[in-house]
Amino acid sequence: MLETAIHVARRVGHLLAQRYTQPHRISVKGLRNITTEADTEAEELAIRLIRQECPEALFVSEETNERYQEAGEIPVWYIDPLDGTTNFARGIPTFSISIAMALRGQVQCGVVYDPLTEQLFYAERGQGAYLNGRRLRVSSRKTLLESVVFLDWPREPTARQRSANFLAKLAPRVDAVRSRGSAALSFCAIAAGWAEIYYQYTLYPWDVAAGALIVEEAGGKVTDLHGRPYTLDQPDWLATNGLVHEATLALDPYA
Ligand code: IPD
Ligand code: CA
Repeated sequence: MLETAIHVARRVGHLLAQRYTQPHRISVKGLRNITTEADTEAEELAIRLIRQECPEALFVSEETNERYQEAGEIPVWYIDPLDGTTNFARGIPTFSISIAMALRGQVQCGVVYDPLTEQLFYAERGQGAYLNGRRLRVSSRKTLLESVVFLDWPREPTARQRSANFLAKLAPRVDAVRSRGSAALSFCAIAAGWAEIYYQYTLYPWDVAAGALIVEEAGGKVTDLHGRPYTLDQPDWLATNGLVHEATLALDPYA
């Protein structure tokens, strides 16, 4: 299944890299939320390729709105065909495809691919996390002052204000703050040890299914923003190198 996920991520990534250089047809899905022709094409391609290898597959994916939760022994594939659509549509060169496969509600493998840098992040449960074949390990930085924070901005006004309030407490205490615009790539940055803290208040299962496993398999910690064990359908996420998790939560993301 990991091999299938990697194969599909590369094929879809190739399509996205081609479409990136062409003009886009943009549709508005909601407040600050757009989709392009590439989102739809990429998702259709991913589902078609996965069905070739795994005909019984069920999907939880962003654009087709397919939603399966309890599927017993049937593999459920979580797909974000284009994570970072706002970047993609504006020509900002940061976006990815995220693919994960779950059995009995537990993600077994996940892949996040950045087609412009050709960085392929992947993990299989219990087998570690890798970037282009190199084993990943979260950073060993122990304090907030040494930490780089990645965050993404919720679309909905109340959650966005909450994120800004938490940032106001975090920013004076940390080394630096970045916002990439692709949740999946932000999780991978924690796994790679490039940053120590990532948080977002409003994510969906397809944004996180692969990234959360990649962080855990790199030795990091993933919870909700109350510090509780995660479930894929929760909106709020905190991923860290583990060492600064408690110090981050102590600043109270919901105060
Ligand atoms: C979005 C990106 C963004 C995050 C949003 C996501 P999309 O995904 O990951 O960084 O802040 O919450 O929805 O819409 O580009 O696939
Ligand atoms: Ca998307």
